[in-house]
Amino acid sequence: MYPLIKKIITLAACLISVFHLSAQLSSANEQLYRPRIHFTPAANWMNDPNGMVFYKGLYHLFYQHNPGAPVWGPMHWGHATSKDLIHWKHLSIAIYPDSLGTIFSGSAVVDSNNTSGFARGKQVPLIAIYTQHNMDGEKAGKDDYQNQSISVSLNDAKTWKTFRGNPVIRTPHLKDFRDPKVFWYEANKTWIMSLAVGDHIEFYSSPNLRIWKKESDVGGSGMGVHDGNWECPDLLSFDDHGKKVWVLIVNVNPGAPNKGSGTQYFVGDFDGHYFTPFSRNVKWLDYGPDNYAGVTWSNTGSRTILAGWMSNWLYANIVPTEKWRNALTIPRDLSLVKVGNDYRVASKPIKELENLEYKKVSLKNIKLDKSFVFSDTINNAAIPCRINLSLLKAQNIELVLSNTKGEQLVVGYDSKANQFFVDRTKSGRSDFFTDFAGLHTAPRFSNTQQLDMSIVIDVASVELFADSGLSVMTEIFFPTETYSKMELRSSDKTTIKHFYYASLKSIL
Ligand code: FRU
Repeated sequence: MYPLIKKIITLAACLISVFHLSAQLSSANEQLYRPRIHFTPAANWMNDPNGMVFYKGLYHLFYQHNPGAPVWGPMHWGHATSKDLIHWKHLSIAIYPDSLGTIFSGSAVVDSNNTSGFARGKQVPLIAIYTQHNMDGEKAGKDDYQNQSISVSLNDAKTWKTFRGNPVIRTPHLKDFRDPKVFWYEANKTWIMSLAVGDHIEFYSSPNLRIWKKESDVGGSGMGVHDGNWECPDLLSFDDHGKKVWVLIVNVNPGAPNKGSGTQYFVGDFDGHYFTPFSRNVKWLDYGPDNYAGVTWSNTGSRTILAGWMSNWLYANIVPTEKWRNALTIPRDLSLVKVGNDYRVASKPIKELENLEYKKVSLKNIKLDKSFVFSDTINNAAIPCRINLSLLKAQNIELVLSNTKGEQLVVGYDSKANQFFVDRTKSGRSDFFTDFAGLHTAPRFSNTQQLDMSIVIDVASVELFADSGLSVMTEIFFPTETYSKMELRSSDKTTIKHFYYASLKSIL
């Protein structure tokens, strides 16, 4: 054979085996890391959840989606529906980029009174309101590339038509002008939009979702965290003994307590025009590094259900999955709780998650002296699973998940520091990002003696809801072999009043 041909064949063989290896790796990682109880895109990239709306018995989830690659790129709205917020059906892409730009984050509402005038016969219009991001404009260094547009669905969110009068709000020549979240404000019979504008939130009102008037703004330095841009706001109301209390959710990237992307909130009052925070100090919805851009479903009556993007802009593009990238957190029911004189938002995994539970084990009064390794019933702990435990006294406690490779993830409470923690320093792969391996903490806010922790564990994520959701942490991790051993440890002599374990059925 000619040496050149030989070289080519050797090179080809090499390439084939590299491809083969990467295909093997890719399907191995697909097995290892594809969440079993969390929503992930069927293929390619996802970031923020968008346009979440409940209509005719279905929860709609749209999401920032690049259908062409497993990295961020030209954004479309991917679409999925669910009857229970747990099992999802993938649908075709709902909204495509057009001459005004790609489709950034936003919301969707049910226009029951046909304020928009888009209804045909009895068909109620669903309206999606989102940012269009003109990539060419951005590249050319312009300042007018983010504008707000709407699309209309006249078949219960199956297909969407962009409005000919787009954009409905033009940028006042500000580069960061995005992520409209809209709700119906009954007192003034008007739509209200919260919009992220650089370092503050602006409120707009509209009678018909087409014509918008700026009402006010809130934020800027002195209020909350400003290490990065404010993004993805949401204005929510809760009932406190007949009094309405408002919560403004503001995502910020970077600036989160454990680095990178995070979700802060402010409790206050809203009168249809102005949001007045009771305090300008920051509060965090979730202290873990992997819950970002969370906003709530609209049209859910008295329930307030939030889901976030389970990743962080620090490493979302380079985490070790190949076919798809990133997932949605377990949706959470939010409530407003008074701790002393202060209001806090508590998050609990939605009740629907209980429908996945099987192989339930309930143990009472476990006297913990150093360590307790689960044998028989929970040995080879099946992941995904759910663990609820309550301690008589807030003492040191650690739940250690590990595998035969010596990799481990530790979730716990440190009584001296009075904080919860997730330690992923030895959790598995972290080579893709220097700061990925880390120990992260969340303060304890409750001052009760008794302490409870509810922990939702999937193959590549953990979600900790402590003290009935007052301290929350969401973290992803990438073990090279699924964790199979579970151990409880304490350096104190601790009594676990109640321990509950349940395997969770995979939704795949
Ligand atoms: C938040 C965000 C939004 C924007 C979208 C783009 O993660 O940066 O502000 O609309 O992602 O994909």
